[in-house]
Amino acid sequence: MKLSDRVAVITGGGSGIGRATALRFAHEGAHVIVAGRTRAALDETLAAMKTPRHKGRAISTDVASSASVKALFAEVDGDFGRLDILVNNAGIGVEDFDQFNATVEARGREVASGQPVQTQWRLTQEMEDATWRRMMAVHLDGTFFCTREALRLMSRTNSGAIINVASTAALAGQEGAPHYSAAKAGVLGFTRALAREVASQNIRVNAVCPGFIETPMSEGYSPGFKRGSMARIPLGRWGTADEVAATALFLAADDGSYFTGQALSPNGGILMS
Ligand code: NAI
Repeated sequence: MKLSDRVAVITGGGSGIGRATALRFAHEGAHVIVAGRTRAALDETLAAMKTPRHKGRAISTDVASSASVKALFAEVDGDFGRLDILVNNAGIGVEDFDQFNATVEARGREVASGQPVQTQWRLTQEMEDATWRRMMAVHLDGTFFCTREALRLMSRTNSGAIINVASTAALAGQEGAPHYSAAKAGVLGFTRALAREVASQNIRVNAVCPGFIETPMSEGYSPGFKRGSMARIPLGRWGTADEVAATALFLAADDGSYFTGQALSPNGGILMS
């Protein structure tokens, strides 16, 4: 097993990529603490991981609240006294799929007709402060709050692996998601600076930048948008949460021991660099 008896915290572990990563890590022998907002979903992930030797936990947490994150890591410290792996995965995506899908489809029709595009996005000029702040709070503040607490535990052993779930939106920008793209690009910048900061403590910090992945977060995209995106993906399909989990496992385990400050992008080839 690749993660025997390692203690791992995975945020947003109740669904999608976080859940798949939790199951994979537990299968490889880790004790996984899933942290997130939805109690029932966390409990369901915990039950799916349960084996006689697994000592993981499900802990309700809002990563956008430093007090909530401090309480999470205090509980981890009390129960385990150490931390080996943190996966900063919790996230939010497109809030208004009706508007998103309608805009994509209208623009698609206009491009196909050969006329200049009339339907504009106007997302940035119309965005409320609270919408921008919430996106930064969950992704950027959340990643910082969890990482700060995790480092305090990892510094005791001078070892650890931190995996930040960013996105191809961080690398290329995502149409219709300026705040999401900005937050994820911030996560990448933090990943690289932190990797330099803690390398001499043998703590590795890397990012995963998934492309289009089938999860609850991406369920609201219209069939038309999905078909259009698949046409641009060389592998011709969206990825699965488990394919992202496999990337996270590689970075968390000793297989990834010479990786730090890197961004691995399971994306079916939609971006190549
Ligand atoms: P998901 O919606 O299934 O999972 C996100 C999880 O984060 C949920 O369990 C949710 O409850 C939790 N969460 C949200 N806000 C939280 C908060 N304030 N505190 C604690 N937990 C919170 O979505 P998915 O797709 O599994 O997303 C996981 C990560 O992957 C996110 O960071 C997302 O931005 C990223 N990602 C997803 C892609 C996709 O196509 N699905 C593509 C690229 C990146």
